[in-house]
Amino acid sequence: MRALVVDDEQNIRKVLNALLSENDFEVHEAAGVHDAGKIINEYYFDIAVVDLRLSDGSGIDILKAVKEQSPDTVVLIITAFASTETAIAAMKLGAYDYITKPFNIDEIRIVVKNIKEKIALQKRVNELEQYADAYRNIVGKSEAMHRMFHIIKKIAPFDTSVIITGESGTGKELVAKAIHETSRRANKPFMVINCASLPAELLESELFGYTKGAFTGAYASKRGLIEEANSGTLFLDEIGEMPLSLQAKMLRFLEDKKIRPIGSSSEIDVDVRIVSATNKDLTGMLEKGDFREDLYYRLSTFEIKLPSLKERKEDIPLLIDHFVKFFAKKFDKNIHAIEPAFIDYIMQQDLKGNVRELKNIIEREIILAENGIIQISGRCPAPIAAEQNYITHRIPENGMNMNEYLASVEKELLLKALLMSGGVKTKAAELLGLSFREFRYRLAKHK
Ligand SMILES: Nc1ncnc2c1ncn2[C@@H]1O[C@H](COP(=O)(O)OP(=O)(O)OP(=O)(O)O)[C@@H](O)[C@H]1O
Ligand SMILES: [Mg+2]
Repeated sequence: MRALVVDDEQNIRKVLNALLSENDFEVHEAAGVHDAGKIINEYYFDIAVVDLRLSDGSGIDILKAVKEQSPDTVVLIITAFASTETAIAAMKLGAYDYITKPFNIDEIRIVVKNIKEKIALQKRVNELEQYADAYRNIVGKSEAMHRMFHIIKKIAPFDTSVIITGESGTGKELVAKAIHETSRRANKPFMVINCASLPAELLESELFGYTKGAFTGAYASKRGLIEEANSGTLFLDEIGEMPLSLQAKMLRFLEDKKIRPIGSSSEIDVDVRIVSATNKDLTGMLEKGDFREDLYYRLSTFEIKLPSLKERKEDIPLLIDHFVKFFAKKFDKNIHAIEPAFIDYIMQQDLKGNVRELKNIIEREIILAENGIIQISGRCPAPIAAEQNYITHRIPENGMNMNEYLASVEKELLLKALLMSGGVKTKAAELLGLSFREFRYRLAKHK
């Protein structure tokens, strides 16, 4: 946090500096209006302590300048002349409080402490506002997402089972985690198993555990994931892939809340909330007998259907922003601009892989970004176009006029570049690797 102290008396500056430093502020000092003006333009201040009467002008001007630069800065006025009028004028202009000189150091200490708390609170509010649309890292402001946040909030506190459906990459796992983290089980384990990743027997031993010697290869006993998740949440990902034989065993566990590890003769009581996910049409599987109906009803007390990205395009810019920040931080890159054309381009894509695909695209873009800009132009298919032209060039049997031919190619490329750059000639020139002068010259040549 940064503080500015403006007073023409050096001693007072010293005292205030010490006090603010004590409170973890990085302190800058100014002796008057002129000095202060220069510093204000350079830094953001969380707090400014300003004397009203300065040798080269009025503290009110500093107050105004600070508030213009950064309305959030807390300004504390000091005045030797306890004229309430100027103090009130200052408060009207946005000062936070005023103290009269000669002041008692403890009085200031309390005010500074209060201000520090106010600043911390404001920071928190800003943060929350920034993420007002994000629920537990889930970014989205579309109506569909708001509805989903609402459902998560409603059902999270209860132990009911939830099934999350949606296309690949729509955030099913993220939602499962959010349900866990907002439930009363939040500080208990959250275990994940992907039912598609293991063959039937392995999946069973992973889930239920086994005793030493239960089968060949069981050299030691192992606790199953269900037991590991005890008192917490178990996330069964890709539940549609669970083999029928195991489905029966799962159903028994869900009904009795007991498990028996493979090879064990005794049962263990477990209290686990089940959240599952699938991108398959389970109801279709029910009809064909590929998924047990009784298990399905056990798992799906609630169903959360995640919308595909296509159904909530308005979230795309928000997600781009979110992932740009995420990867810029991860790769320690300073990204200060995203070309609007890039966002348009992404909006036009058919993102079948939904949010995951978008995330991957942004990761690549951040790695490729130069000069802190994410842009679509400059990465145009110019070389490919040239290649295609090259491939189609043919010399007719009876010969050709090469110069005329080249001129027509040149004209075509100039036009294409202009189209791609939206008519911006400097950009079009860049696309073709020409200087602006040369581009203009060639353009004039072709009228
Ligand atoms: N709304 C969102 N806000 C921020 N990040 C998201 C959002 N949705 C998904 N993601 C991110 O996208 C990636 C894919 O999400 P997730 O793994 O939850 O998808 P999924 O539906 O489980 O996909 P699959 O069916 O392929 O397993 C993750 O890195 C996740 O953090
Ligand atoms: Mg998943």
